Formats: sequence, structure tokens, C-alpha cells
Amino acid sequence: MIIIDGPVKLGGEIKVQGAKNSTLPLLAAAVICKGETVLHNCPALSDVETAVRILEHLGYQCTREGSSLIVNNEMKCCEIPPDLMKGMRSSIVFLGALVSRCGEANLHFPGGCEIGLRPIDIHISSLKKLGVEIEESGGCLRCSAPNGIRGSYVSLPFPSVGATENLMLAAVCSKGTTVISNAAREPEISDLALYLNRCGGRVYGAGESCVIIDGVEELHGCEHTIMPDRIVTATYMAAAAVTGGDVVIRGVDNSHILPMMSPFEESGCCIRQYGDVINILAPERLNPVKHIRTMPYPGFPTDAQPIVMPMAALGKGTSILVENIFENRYKYAEELNHMGANIRIEGKVAIVEGVEKLVGAPVTSWDLRGGAALVIAGLAAEGETRISGEEYIYRGYEDLEQNFAMLGAKIRTAEGK
Ligand code: UD1
Repeated sequence: MIIIDGPVKLGGEIKVQGAKNSTLPLLAAAVICKGETVLHNCPALSDVETAVRILEHLGYQCTREGSSLIVNNEMKCCEIPPDLMKGMRSSIVFLGALVSRCGEANLHFPGGCEIGLRPIDIHISSLKKLGVEIEESGGCLRCSAPNGIRGSYVSLPFPSVGATENLMLAAVCSKGTTVISNAAREPEISDLALYLNRCGGRVYGAGESCVIIDGVEELHGCEHTIMPDRIVTATYMAAAAVTGGDVVIRGVDNSHILPMMSPFEESGCCIRQYGDVINILAPERLNPVKHIRTMPYPGFPTDAQPIVMPMAALGKGTSILVENIFENRYKYAEELNHMGANIRIEGKVAIVEGVEKLVGAPVTSWDLRGGAALVIAGLAAEGETRISGEEYIYRGYEDLEQNFAMLGAKIRTAEGK
């Protein structure tokens, strides 16, 4: 478990890691390239290890050199066993990549954090439009493209990040042109397009709601630097905010942070952004974050909703948060209430009456960002916070304890039994 002794005012400088949500589709994309892929700024996370295990199972050789991951292309099979698929939700993006590379793929329904139903119907129906035949039985997905993948017009009923990525991966080496309308616009989509284009792909419009893909014969390898993790950036910012800290975060893409700025501004933090640096200076007591609704990019990200909740919990007044993307993303709020927060959940709405202080308590992390919320709260709380279920947090945060300790936190790990 993770043990935090609070409160401590965080101060100092930190460099943000590469984005988990970009790394995973990039590793799936490496399946398609007939050549070596070198990913720089690749975070060392358990989810990345799971993706590496999938690649190794498929026959690829993955080598880590510092923060770079090198993937050598020697495909042996196009099947992913259930234990590897269950490890994380984003394993589903291997579907598009495998069908593109081998013309077939056998895999299982994916696992991942329990934050809602997380169906894959949009992935399946949109890949079918490109000529991919998909049979589902007993949790198994048997996919093939007997006549090859053909470019097509696909209109997504919701701008799903994973479905947009899967379509891009399936279409990049197809015959003809694919147009994805109502595509997800998240920066991770642009990062994937940048990588595919470096490998010889022709993907246009990524980051906009209409993405056009002109199919090419094949992709070669390339070197690519993974974009900075915007949610981890927000995590350090929120930790600085709740502790009345003064923190400088380096290696940030400031344009990605804009959709998350409102709670920091509303709560009275002073934010300075220059180049790839962001500096947050927090007041002694936060104002409420007022009103936040999660939306697809460029709206406020659902992954940052738990991250800013401890700020709302400690605000001088009432805040309202509305979760519009996942149905079950407030489980951690109950744990924050064990620490003295006053959060009431009514369906997708959280009504938060700010309290003067939080107190350390034994709490449980049930998912990645909910767990990060508990870490943030623990840094501000009086006394000892013991967080179990820490394996969820390590899915997305590299060197969590060391990084917060560098900013002055008293944080350590211990056996939970
Ligand atoms: C990705 C991110 C995740 C982030 C989410 C929303 C990765 C690895 N994960 O997840 O961190 O929280 O985007 O920004 O990049 N939906 C369906 N059917 C589908 C697909 C999605 O109903 O076939 C629904 C989901 O249940 C959810 C919503 O659409 O309610 C958003 O899902 P989606 O954008 O696909 O998220 P992920 O790609 O799973």
C-alpha cells in the first residue's frame, strides 16, 4: 500500500512523463510497421508492460534503453490470449492493427478499470464498415478481412477515442480512402497520426472531428517521441493546489492543458505557462471549483474529474461536478468522504460542500484516476493516509512515490497485510 503523512506544502520542479494513453495505441501501431519502431519518452508503467507482453506474444522483440522502447518487427501469430486482453481496456486497439497486418485477428473482450460499462459496439460496427468480418462468441472475437480492408465513410455515433484509433489503424494500409466523421479529437489521436505519417501513412485532419485516411501499401518503422501526459500534469497541479504549494512542471504541452484550466483558475491558483513549462502557485485556502462537466476533447476530460475532486472537497463553498462520459466514475468519492470530505453523488452529478480540512484514513483505490485522487487528498490531509489497491495507480503513474517525494511529500510504500 501507499502511505502518506500529511499535510505538506509541495514545492520544487518535476518533469512530466510520456502519455500512457498515447503509448498504448502507438505500441499497437508498431504491429503494422514493417521495420523498427523506436518510441522515446516511453513511460515505465504496468499498462505499458502489459502491451509489451502482448507484442512479445505476437513475436515482436521489445527492448528498453532508458526511457526509449525499441520494437523489432518479427510477427509470429495474430492471436491474443484472454489473460493478456483482460489486463487493460486499450488492448482492444490491437484489433485494428492485427487485422491490418495479417488480415485476421483472434482476441477476447478487453478488461480494464471498472468505471462504467465500457462496451466496444462502436469499435465493432465501424470496423465492419471497412470490410472486417467479426464473429463474437463466448467472449471471443474472431476477425478477418477476406477481401482486404476497404476505405469507407464511417460516422461515429459518439467520438470514442479507442474506436477512432482502431479505425485509423485498420484503415492506414487499406485500399482506398476512409473518412471518419465525428472522430475523437483528443491530442493522443494527433500523436498517433503523427507516428503513422512518419511511418509512411497518409492521415489527415487528426485533432479535428473529420479524419481522412488515404490507404497506403505498407508502413516502415520510425522514431517518435511520445507526447507528454496531460492527466499526469493535471495530477501534479491538483496536488500543488490542495497543499498550498508552488510547483514547476516541465516537459508539458501547454496547449493540452487549456481544457483543464477552469478549476485551477476558479479556485484562485496563480498559473504561469511558458514554453513547455507550467508553474502553479496555490493560495492558502482554495475557492470552490464551481461547476465542471466532463466532455469529449476539447471539453474537460473525464480522466481529470477525480483529479480535481480533492480541490472541490477543500474549497471554500459548494462545487458541482457532472460526469458525462462514464457511468460509474465516482466510487472514489466514498473513500474521500472517509477522509472527511462532504461529497453527495446523485447519478452523474457530484455535489461537493467544501470542508476546511481532510484527515488521513485507510482508503481503497478502485481504479487508476480515483486512486490518484486519494493520493492528492492524502497529501493535503492531516495525519496518515494508507491507500490499498495501489496497483491501479501504478497503471498510469511512473515513479509515483519518488516524484512526490522530490516535491517534499512524505510518501512511501509498505506491505498491505
Ligand atoms: C480513452 C482513454 C480513457 C479516457 C477515455 C475518454 C485510453 C487508453 N483510454 O478510453 O483514459 O477516459 O478515452 O476520454 O486512451 N463507448 C461505447 N461504445 C464503444 C466505445 C465507447 O458506448 O464501442 C462509450 C464508453 O462506454 C464511454 C464513452 O463511449 O461512455 C467514451 O469511451 P471512449 O472514448 O471509447 O474511451 P476509451 O477509448 O475506452
